[in-house]
Amino acid sequence: MYLFKTVKNLQHYLFASKNRGESIGFVPTMGALHQGHISLLAFAQKHCSLTVCSIFVNPTQFNEKEDFDKYPRTTEADIALLEANGCHVLFLPDVQEIYPHPDEPAPVFDFGYLDKPMEGAHRPGHFNGVAQVVNRLLQIVQPHHLFMGQKDYQQYKIIEKMLHLTHSSVTLHMCPTLREPSGLAMSSRNTRLNPKEREQAAHIYHALLLVQQNMALLPPQQARMAALNYLEQHLPDARPEYLDIVNAHTLEPVQHWADAAQTVVCTAVRVGNVRLIDNLLLPGKTT
Ligand code: PAF
Repeated sequence: MYLFKTVKNLQHYLFASKNRGESIGFVPTMGALHQGHISLLAFAQKHCSLTVCSIFVNPTQFNEKEDFDKYPRTTEADIALLEANGCHVLFLPDVQEIYPHPDEPAPVFDFGYLDKPMEGAHRPGHFNGVAQVVNRLLQIVQPHHLFMGQKDYQQYKIIEKMLHLTHSSVTLHMCPTLREPSGLAMSSRNTRLNPKEREQAAHIYHALLLVQQNMALLPPQQARMAALNYLEQHLPDARPEYLDIVNAHTLEPVQHWADAAQTVVCTAVRVGNVRLIDNLLLPGKTT
């Protein structure tokens, strides 16, 4: 695996690779890598001849300083994991490489409703920061394909919209969420849970599954309340920030299952000091 720390050296290498006809698949990450990231890499390897991962803990997308400071940083282990899994190129920039002109205003995108609910409402400025860094990384790497996880479903929709707004030719792929045997969605933040919290956090996924089970019995808002009650019973110390059933395309709340061709239930729950998110795409329903 080649490791580049500067834009200049990375681009020099990628320019030559493209001239050789390689197709470039890109997996942006913030490190603290786990099997979920490795599955994104595996998708990229299936579609592309050359895979590029980046590790950059982007300060502009954290709206809580504590979350940024405590974000796990495990660079040595990350490098070993990527190498063992056949990643071709790792881009490991410092903040000056990504933001060489910090005084220049960041690009502003109009995401319409997509950045208003859920994460957008609870983490002001978060999606601007995500879009800013992904836009910058895409300008640097100029991949053919971009791979992102379903676990951050709203982030995926934001990036899809950003690619549309920038007339990008990059093909975006959504890769399924990987889960622990307990059902807990894999996340870098899971390492901050103690064993008891980790066990309890599996109930988040079970609350989402309950929504799916209740689709045949209850309208969306009642299914939502049943899932929130389930969380209150099984995770009494946790604080759900939201659990919303929304149109998977527009992210607008749905009143009737038939309101949307596809719905998704998304949640954010604080377990101890750790904020976890998860979601489940629900099977289409027409009645
Ligand atoms: O999902 C993430 O890890 C980050 O939000 C991303 C896409 C790498 C941008 O910093």
